[in-house]
Amino acid sequence: MAEGLQFEESIRKAMEMAYLTDEIAALREEIVGTLKVQPGERVLDIGSGPGLLAKDLAHCTGATGSLRGLDMAENMLAAARKLCAEQSQVEFERGDAMSLPYQDLNFDVVVSTQVYEYVEDLNKAVAEFGRVLRLGGRGIIVDTDWSVPYWNAVDPGLRDRIVKSWSEHCSQEAVPMRLSTAIRSANLQIKNLRVIPLLNQEFNESTFSYWMTKIIGSFVLGRNGIEQSDIDHWIGGLQKLSHNGDYFFCINRYLFEVVK
Ligand SMILES: C[S@@+](CC[C@H](N)C(=O)[O-])C[C@H]1O[C@@H](n2cnc3c(N)ncnc32)[C@H](O)[C@@H]1O
Repeated sequence: MAEGLQFEESIRKAMEMAYLTDEIAALREEIVGTLKVQPGERVLDIGSGPGLLAKDLAHCTGATGSLRGLDMAENMLAAARKLCAEQSQVEFERGDAMSLPYQDLNFDVVVSTQVYEYVEDLNKAVAEFGRVLRLGGRGIIVDTDWSVPYWNAVDPGLRDRIVKSWSEHCSQEAVPMRLSTAIRSANLQIKNLRVIPLLNQEFNESTFSYWMTKIIGSFVLGRNGIEQSDIDHWIGGLQKLSHNGDYFFCINRYLFEVVK
């Protein structure tokens, strides 16, 4: 297992804030509504992060079911444990999506949202997802293609450098485009594939892209010659666009509904 994945606390918090925005809360609602988890079912959330989806899914399993959340980052696990402290059916543990510490056919439902862009081997990770899902089980995988955000800027050249540098956070390129093959290779069927656009027309604390600039800024600083003054200039430009009513951000997430 890769050791020591840890998010700086300010970045972990920014990620949590991004995931608390209305657009991501709506995506969680869509996932919960699609999966229709029943009381008593056994659910696994791979890369459970702050635990927001885990909490909602555990609400559906009730105390007779179980929710296991797995993540590589200790501070994500700590935040998730705190969030779900009241739910006795929930357990979070440290582990790697590429080598799940569970038996074959162990879960009724498996989910993994926004995780596979980080794993070293997409096929291996999705094979693990398929391995632990029982026959007749169902699941959801969600991922984003960060190479193509539709994002206005006062300095498009700088925006392009920042976005290109940010795409280096993905150890896998173009994950959504490669997921269909990986899913089929894992002996899973794609029941439905849909695109979920995240659209912001304002740059403020209530929007996903606002929080993403904190995460992106921290990641790209020092990469490909990007300095703090570049990041400040980029963010200042976004504030100005928003102030003038010209702000525009759109990115697509892809939701794969799978069955085994
Ligand atoms: C962007 S967050 C998504 C969190 C959560 N799934 C959600 O959608 O709210 C990605 C999470 O995946 C975890 N992660 C990254 N690589 C992983 C791996 N190989 N195995 C397990 N977790 C991993 C990170 O620690 C982080 O918590």
